[in-house]
Amino acid sequence: MSTEISEKLALLGLTDQKLSDALKNKKLAAALSAVVQETGLSSPVQDKSTASLLQSLASSTKDISDSAVLAARPLISEAILARKIKTSVQVDAAVTYIKSAGGESDTADLEEAAGVGKEATPEQISNEVTAYFNENEESIKANRYKAIPSLMAGIKRLPGLKWAAPAEVKTAIDAKLLEVLGPKDERDAPPKKVKKDKSAPTTAVAAASEEHKKARNMFAEGFLGDLHKPGGNVQTRPELMEQHLKATGGIVVTRFPPEPNGYLHIGHSKAIAVNFGYAKYHNGICYLRYDDTNPEAEEERYFTAILEIITWLGFKPYKITYSSDHFQELYDLGEELIRRDKGYVCFCTAEEVHSNRGLHGGPRTACSHRSKSVEQSLEEFRAMRDGKYKPGEATMRMKMDLEDPNPQMWDLVAYRVLNASHHRTGDKWKIYPTYDFTHCLCDSFENISHSLCTTEFYLSRQSYEWLCDALDIYKPAQREYGRLNITGTIMSKRKIARLVKDKYVSDWDDPRLFTLVAIRRRGVPPEAILSFVNELGVTTTNSNIQVGRFESSVRKYLEDNTPRLMLIPDPIPMILENLPDDFVEEISLPYKPGSTELGEHIVPFTKTVYIDRSDFRETDSADYFRLAPGKSVGLLKVPYTVRVTSFSKDPATGKITEIKAVYENDKKVKPKTYIQWVALSPDHSSPVKVAEVRSFNRLFLSENPESNPDGFLADINPNSLDLYKNAVIEVGFDDFKKKFVKPGAGPESMRFQGLRVGYFCMDREATEESLILNRIVTLREDSSKDN
Ligand SMILES: *[C@@H]1O[C@H](CO)[C@@H](O)[C@H](O)[C@H]1NC(C)=O
Ligand SMILES: *[C@@H]1O[C@H](CO)[C@@H](O)[C@H](O)[C@H]1NC(C)=O
Ligand SMILES: *[C@@H]1O[C@H](CO)[C@@H](O)[C@H](O)[C@H]1NC(C)=O
Repeated sequence: MSTEISEKLALLGLTDQKLSDALKNKKLAAALSAVVQETGLSSPVQDKSTASLLQSLASSTKDISDSAVLAARPLISEAILARKIKTSVQVDAAVTYIKSAGGESDTADLEEAAGVGKEATPEQISNEVTAYFNENEESIKANRYKAIPSLMAGIKRLPGLKWAAPAEVKTAIDAKLLEVLGPKDERDAPPKKVKKDKSAPTTAVAAASEEHKKARNMFAEGFLGDLHKPGGNVQTRPELMEQHLKATGGIVVTRFPPEPNGYLHIGHSKAIAVNFGYAKYHNGICYLRYDDTNPEAEEERYFTAILEIITWLGFKPYKITYSSDHFQELYDLGEELIRRDKGYVCFCTAEEVHSNRGLHGGPRTACSHRSKSVEQSLEEFRAMRDGKYKPGEATMRMKMDLEDPNPQMWDLVAYRVLNASHHRTGDKWKIYPTYDFTHCLCDSFENISHSLCTTEFYLSRQSYEWLCDALDIYKPAQREYGRLNITGTIMSKRKIARLVKDKYVSDWDDPRLFTLVAIRRRGVPPEAILSFVNELGVTTTNSNIQVGRFESSVRKYLEDNTPRLMLIPDPIPMILENLPDDFVEEISLPYKPGSTELGEHIVPFTKTVYIDRSDFRETDSADYFRLAPGKSVGLLKVPYTVRVTSFSKDPATGKITEIKAVYENDKKVKPKTYIQWVALSPDHSSPVKVAEVRSFNRLFLSENPESNPDGFLADINPNSLDLYKNAVIEVGFDDFKKKFVKPGAGPESMRFQGLRVGYFCMDREATEESLILNRIVTLREDSSKDN
């Protein structure tokens, strides 16, 4: 073929490959050349999509011999060059039109037939696709990636997308699939043939054991139950898996990789339970790996606090590691990546990167640094390492795939320059690896079999796998589960910091917060958190759980696991006038009615007993059962009722100061109700005085504080803390603490149910002289309905 033709065709922007293919196909070459002729092109078409539409025009008209039809073809190429025809679908429709109209073809009819002006914008495409997904959500989720063919067909039929560019529709579908389903995983593997097990359980014993398995266990069912066995994650080369299994012996290896830049919150308790728990359940191991690649945000106190919380939750890391342990190895792999022509040093500004990624609406383009030679990039990377560049001047980026719909494939940054001293490596490094570069490589170094994380990392799975494969190293399997989110509170570090700074709460462990240090201080037992997480189970969808549901789970746990004690938050002395001054009766109370394991204890009953202010009213009414003048009420576990005879008030405040009553030990009265009490008896060291009872209520008024139009601070509950400064508690408190709370256990381990009041524990600020109690939860869902 002549160079003249190939020069002509080059005007249409054909790649070398396409050009050589076209030159082998006489008809196509002729058609392409004719199109160039007809359009009078003299310089190459700059716009890629225009060029490719002209190419497709040539290709779909190459077999036409009717000269009248061919004479109409320039109408189409004109419309393409005028950017009226914008998609290959329109080109096809236009060709169909000229084929039927032949010599009668005209521009207006052609435009009508080709849907000019009716193309869908990327936004419309995305909206149509989203609507289709929403309508068909169930079947898409059920069929997952197997649904693609029917999905494509269904979406193509949507009238709103008749003229949309198929590639754009495909991109939108791919992006949506990724968002809805996450990357492909085991469920998307072609089905394996399962051999029928002829020895399936038929006996009663086997059936019973099946039944037993049905008790919820988050590790045996759902997301975690479906995970692959060690060795089941596919590698590019089988040798990688052989070496891996040899190193681990085929056990489950997981990791919990917090960034040491803040306190963990309730959401992390699920991550801890999942990672440590899954390894434990399978007799494997779990690393605690501090992901300390951001020296600017890390602080020593967070390292300590994280380990304390993990220990408190009952887990023990197999080993504590640091991403920074691997800085040298990571750097070496950075060089290796460049040597493999899969990395480069980029000098674009953040703004340029943004724009090259197409985030301002233009097409995605590679920057000039991407195509530099391996030697040049290596040299620049070393210069970065050696401190030649200031922060922001240079980054090392991975050479991924700009055509991929997944933004995590758009040449992520692997290394950046930071002028910061690292708490473990000091000033040795001027450059630090990013999360995207570090995380998967450290997982690989530690031979992780299951890299479990939450679904916001869905899109990262592709870059995770890309990097391991690019470096030809063992590739752990990243799998994503739904996050645990508690509503009615906030988790954002920045916002909690604001609450602390402006003194809405006392500190990061203020019991009204949902950091784990706060939850611990509030008295929630670690077992209750684990059983809550287990109860919810692990799936791939995020769970937004109302605070009330968390509290009711905690309440249920405490109900089964705490002693009962009589606590009077707001006491009024009641004098039993008919008893002698030295009257003492020792009454035996079980710590837990109906359960013998905690045993019983003695409380004194004397002439002066304290009752709670909320249990007395000056005027009686028919629907009211507690104390009022003239009324008989039972005291818990005391043989006879008491009847109020009079009361006195502080004239200044109007508050009741004392009640007089009689002990009705001459007749059996069946009271409508019993109330708790604590007697005065110095010989028994009764009552035990409580310097402060802190009754915590919700910190926010609504379930979604962040959506308050005036900001989350406007949603703060002005009554989130009730303080009682004169409370008393029975002597069983000291007795129980001595007998049952292990020395060295945190103060919050002294937990109990204050009969008729709520669940409480000792606060960390309590001392020998000054007892401070925190309310963990109320006794019932809604404490305001208390009679
Ligand atoms: C991980 O496995 C490799 C072999 O694939 C082995 O050389 C290495 O020592 C193992 N590392 C750890 C931390 O187990
Ligand atoms: C790094 O930071 C230190 C102290 O903040 C400053 O003195 C120094 O000039 C900085 N170096 C560079 C290269 O920016
Ligand atoms: C978690 O719940 C809050 C409401 O308190 C909500 O604003 C937020 O979007 C939820 N997060 C997720 C991941 O669902």
